[in-house]
Formats: sequence, C-alpha cells, structure tokens
Amino acid sequence: MKKTLALALAVVMSLGLLAGCGGGGNTSTPAQSNPGTSQPAASNPAASIPDAPAGGGTVGVCIYKFDDAFMTTYRNALQEILEGKGYKVTVVDGNNDQSKQNEQINTFITQGVDALIINPCMTSAADSIIATVKAANVPTVLINREPTAEQMSAYDKLVYVGCDAAQSGTFQGELILETPNKGDINGDGKVSYIMIQGDPENIDAQLRTEYSVKALKDAGIEVEELDLQRGDWDREKGQTICANDLAQYGDKIEVVFCNNDDMAIGALQSIQAAGRTVNKDIYLVGVDALDAALNEVMNGNMTGTVLNDAVGQATEAVNQMELLLGGATYTSGNQSVYVNYVKVTPDNAKDFVK
Ligand code: GAL
Repeated sequence: MKKTLALALAVVMSLGLLAGCGGGGNTSTPAQSNPGTSQPAASNPAASIPDAPAGGGTVGVCIYKFDDAFMTTYRNALQEILEGKGYKVTVVDGNNDQSKQNEQINTFITQGVDALIINPCMTSAADSIIATVKAANVPTVLINREPTAEQMSAYDKLVYVGCDAAQSGTFQGELILETPNKGDINGDGKVSYIMIQGDPENIDAQLRTEYSVKALKDAGIEVEELDLQRGDWDREKGQTICANDLAQYGDKIEVVFCNNDDMAIGALQSIQAAGRTVNKDIYLVGVDALDAALNEVMNGNMTGTVLNDAVGQATEAVNQMELLLGGATYTSGNQSVYVNYVKVTPDNAKDFVK
C-alpha cells in the first residue's frame, strides 16, 4: 500500500500536476523532492500515513485568534475541507498570545497528531515554532504569516501557504489610480491619504502599506501621508483612527487606505458620520473581500477591495499537508506556495459574494 501510494505520488509529481490540483488554481508550486526516494519510509512517520489516507489522519489547526474576521472565514473553510476529506480536526484559538499557542502546539504534538496547520500569533516566533515541529518530526503547514525562506529552510517537512502581500498593496494603489481623478479629488496635484495599518509585526501589514503608496508613486503621482496608525486589523480601531483623522484633517483627506476590510468597514462608519461620501469626496479601499465589504463596494460605499482568497488558501494548505503526509519534502528557497489576490471593483464584486 505504501509502495503503491509512493509510486502514485511519484507519477503525479512527474506529470507536474501537484500544487495546482488542490483547486486553488492560482498557485505557484515549490520544487518538491520525490517522496518515493527522498524519505525512506522506515525513518519517516509521515510516510506511514498513506496506510491511513484521508479519513484516518488527525490534524491540529492553530489559529492566531478566533476574533479576526478574515481568519474566521479561513478557519471555517479549513475545517470544512479537512472534515470533508475525513480527517479528525481540532482547531484551537491562540487568543493572539504566542506563549498560549506554543502550549497548544506542544499539546497537539503530545497527542500525536499526524500533521499541523499553524497560523502563528507572531511572525517573530517562527524560529521556535519550526524548531518545535522539527524536533517532533510533525509535517507542518504554516499559513497567513510568512516567515523568511531562511527560517523555513531549517525543516524540510514544512511549507508556507499564503499570498504575496506586495501584490495586494499594489492592487489597492491601482484601485485609486483607476478613479477619474487618480485620487486627487481637490486637484491640488497630490494625493493626501491616511493609512490604517494592520498589526505592523505582520508582513501583510508592512507590504500593503508600502506597495499601495508605491503604486501611486510609480505612476508619477505625488503623495502626502497625513497619518499612519496601527489598527491591528480591528474594525473598532479602524473606526476610531478614521474619526480622529477626519476631525483633524477634514477635507484634506482624499484617500483612506486600510490594510484590511474590517478596518475599512469601521472607517466607513466614521466617514459617513462625518458627512463625507465615498467615491465623491473621499476614496476608501481595503483588502480581504469580506462579504460586508463586497456589499459596500457594490453600493458604492467603498472604492474597492482585494480578494484575499480564504477558500483558495485553505484548499492549498490541505493539498500541501497531504503532500507532506505522502512523504514530500521541500528544498530551501522553495517553501512558499502563493495563491493570487484579485482586484475587486463594482464590476466584479458580485462574483466573490459567498
Ligand atoms: C491578513 C488579513 C487580515 C488579518 C490578518 C491576520 O492577511 O488581510 O484581515 O486576518 O491576515 O494575520
């Protein structure tokens, strides 16, 4: 059975059909070594899983915190896909506390899970998480918070599934460039914006902040940053920051960049409370394509958003997990699998409503 599966996998790999077949579609594939040759079955516990394929395995899923709108969609998709394939799944809430999550990882390891899917609380904890799963020899898929290639190279049964955060920032900038006045509502020759950032420790926040503005600058537009504040991906913080900025800068604000939709929905409440009108006297963009944001894009209350494909990423995470369980290993520099972002405007927003 093991042999048959290893053979089947080797055939699939040689046909080059691997990462794309999970259904994400928009993925790029890391180079993987042939499980049939790189991992002698006897020394590789993961290789014993093919005897108990989909249906027999246990999976521990660690989410950085349940109280996060996008990660709620993501974890629900993960659970549904894994359970649909017959895995026994436990999903735990890290409450945004890395030491708590470390304990949860250790508990899963003690319980003998076959694989782990981890959304780290802190990107800076990647080294210790990777050392822990490596010492326990548990195949692991990291999601949502990308460590460096060097950090991941410490363990060959580890892969990251996520998106290229720079791309989402660029799309946000393009959404502004596609407006009739390219963001310069008051015609003073520059685009004055506020930036409501996610958790700045997270590379998604860093790159969205950088690349949204870079897209404007690359198009030759002069920009003026009126304010940049961390809203930690949180709707209420987005609302408060935007309300304070509107009180302080008023009509000077032409664009509100939010690193995610939940903060943008919060910002929209403040924009409306201040009597401003999106797409008329102010622009507003987010990322994630939460249903609430898609509705606002369709109603004209948000300029646009960017699809952060939770289902595509969950599908790919499970796909990669199954490859690891089949004995696949990853070479250094090829341990990230990306699912594409998609720019969302009033023209295509309805296509993404769940
Ligand atoms: C981002 C997402 C945010 C938040 C964050 C958590 O990719 O856009 O809304 O969920 O991940 O790390």
